[in-house]
Amino acid sequence: MSDLRIALVPGDGIGVDVVAEAVKALTAAADAAGRTLRMTPFDWGAERYLQTGVTLPADAIERLQDGFDAILLGAMGDPRVSDNRHAADILLGLRFRLDLYVNYRPVRLFHEKLCPLKGRRPEDVDFAVFRENTEGPYVMMGGTFKRGTPDEVATEIDLNTRRGVDRIVRHAFDHARARRLPAVVMADKSNVLTHGHGLWQRAFREAAAAYPGIEARHLYADSLALQLVRDPAQFRVIVTSNMLGDIVTDLAAALQGGLGMAASGNIHPGRISLFEPVHGSAPSFAGRNAANPMGAILSAALMLEYLGWAAEASRIEEAVRWAVENDRTTADIGGGLGTREVGDAICERLRRS
Ligand code: NAD
Ligand code: IPM
Ligand code: MN
Repeated sequence: MSDLRIALVPGDGIGVDVVAEAVKALTAAADAAGRTLRMTPFDWGAERYLQTGVTLPADAIERLQDGFDAILLGAMGDPRVSDNRHAADILLGLRFRLDLYVNYRPVRLFHEKLCPLKGRRPEDVDFAVFRENTEGPYVMMGGTFKRGTPDEVATEIDLNTRRGVDRIVRHAFDHARARRLPAVVMADKSNVLTHGHGLWQRAFREAAAAYPGIEARHLYADSLALQLVRDPAQFRVIVTSNMLGDIVTDLAAALQGGLGMAASGNIHPGRISLFEPVHGSAPSFAGRNAANPMGAILSAALMLEYLGWAAEASRIEEAVRWAVENDRTTADIGGGLGTREVGDAICERLRRS
């Protein structure tokens, strides 16, 4: 199989720290398999924006599409950029302009000691959230009127298209069918958002008819939040909208040990896709060798799996699992190691396995 070409966008804050460890793990996994990964860093982020005014360079999309198989991103967010302008242009810009409509966020508990709920074992927390990734309020349609006055008005439109909802819902059902999973749960707020989420209801019911044998279950998103804490074992596949998915996946991250453990892929099946930990730039942890690199390393594994390197992907996951079981971890999940030392332990395991 040919080499893979990976674009690296570490971004801001701990994004830089954790991507460095993901690069080490990718290199160790490729070396052990006698394969080659070509990784090219891009300095898109707050620092470059503050120095040059450029967020996502004009030729970025073309360069990525022509020259790379996938993108590994750290995080975007810097207290010096108060309106988060660069994150909107870079992270949301890549999601929109590469049309990465699937935000795939697998939620897996590697060891019961990481779960904040009592008595939950790994098999009790094992589901995937499919978050719509190109619509909702994220399209930033709206504006302000009489801004800065007592009469200020501010709006954002929650955009839902039939095409957009259909494709994410079908993707969730396809995932369930491929893995022989019994049910897909769709979460919305159609009791309030009767137009936009009414569309989700119709799209979900119609899609379900094409997947006989898979239960199509609906929950309101507030109820889903409760059920995720009360009994996460009832879920295997969840599909939901962009903003509800954002919130639900932070809650789900807590079930698996916190934001430091959560991985994601922003995917357009068959096209260049972007992989990133679920967490943000955690500015107070940045550059202190304190951030948990596992979410980023697991995101790199998702990337390899997406690109067809399934064996290398599962070896990385196994190495992370080993590190968790043997307390080669950072403080957020109870260990005493730094970011780099966790990365080293995972790489050592990859070289030995
Ligand atoms: P955050 O995820 O950056 O951090 C929240 C808290 O979670 C941290 O203070 C820390 O206690 C913990 N945490 C997160 N990642 C961790 C890790 N790898 N290891 C150990 N602990 C970790 O969220 P926030 O504080 O709400 O946001 C900070 C900035 O990041 C903001 O600018 C926000 O917009 C941005 N953000 C970016 C992304 C992204 O790029 N995908 C995601 C979320 C937030
Ligand atoms: C995420 C983040 C982003 C989002 C922000 C940083 C724009 O929270 O990837 O979960 O809301 O999608
Ligand atoms: Mn988020």
